[in-house]
Amino acid sequence: MERRKSQSSTIVITGVTRGLGRALVDEFVRLGHTVFCCARTRPEIKELAQRYPDNDFQVVDVAVDKDVQAWAAHVSERHGAPDLVLNNAAIINDRAFLWEVPDRELSDMLNINVGGVCNVVRHFVPYLVRRRRGVIVNFSSRWGQFIEERMAPYCATKWAIVALTRILAAELKPKGVVAVGLNPGVINTPMLRKYLCQNAATTAGNYPSPEEWARSAAPFILNLSMKDSGRVRRILALSPMRSVRRLATHSIKNS
Ligand SMILES: NC(=O)c1ccc[n+]([C@@H]2O[C@H](COP(=O)([O-])OP(=O)(O)OC[C@H]3O[C@@H](n4cnc5c(N)ncnc54)[C@H](OP(=O)(O)O)[C@@H]3O)[C@@H](O)[C@H]2O)c1
Repeated sequence: MERRKSQSSTIVITGVTRGLGRALVDEFVRLGHTVFCCARTRPEIKELAQRYPDNDFQVVDVAVDKDVQAWAAHVSERHGAPDLVLNNAAIINDRAFLWEVPDRELSDMLNINVGGVCNVVRHFVPYLVRRRRGVIVNFSSRWGQFIEERMAPYCATKWAIVALTRILAAELKPKGVVAVGLNPGVINTPMLRKYLCQNAATTAGNYPSPEEWARSAAPFILNLSMKDSGRVRRILALSPMRSVRRLATHSIKNS
């Protein structure tokens, strides 16, 4: 793990067209690392590829197994096994009682938030195992530990991420590969704004920006090691000012 702190790492990130993934791209590149990234929205992926030509951006839907397989082969051909794989991509449901959640919304949620992570694990982990090194980071949430009414689909997927990360960590430990769950905290991203526009209790401006978060999150992620494997680590990204504002505000009781 010392190697990753001082040298350039190769980092795979899913879901980089906005929010936390987008901010991590800027921060990892600024720190001198190379990123291999994906998301579904073509214009944003094209813009990222032009902005960072020494890195790699592909249009991939993580829910489509064969596309993830092709993407993993492309990454390994260009750079060998990555040092870090960040399963960041996810969607959130509209607030609704479980019995009112449309079938399509539930299946999209399961296919992206759980199936997408499994697809990435299926096609990237063999490269890490072969090299007997590497770290998989699966983004969970406080909602991987607690519950929120009318958010059953999203909560269920984040609980699932915790379970599958713990199992994966046990399976990978003898092979020298690390699997960690990550609770990023509550950050002012499009996902948070989508949730909050349906919940008048608080406003997104009370929470750190993705750029503030990434300043703390990138070094934190680069330092994850075998001692973290199987655990859900929490990123504390709040600047003192934000912390005071956050404490003074009725805190969102979830995420
Ligand atoms: N923000 C928070 O406060 C918070 C709190 C707890 C946990 N989290 C977790 O942190 C992660 C990032 O959240 P965020 O707030 O940054 O979300 P966000 O703003 O909605 O961004 C999500 C990213 O995922 C991509 N994505 C969605 N579905 C995809 C798919 N099928 N294939 C590939 N990419 C896909 C989106 O791009 P395209 O639409 O272009 O594909 C987008 O770039 C998520 O796992 C989320 O559950 C966030």
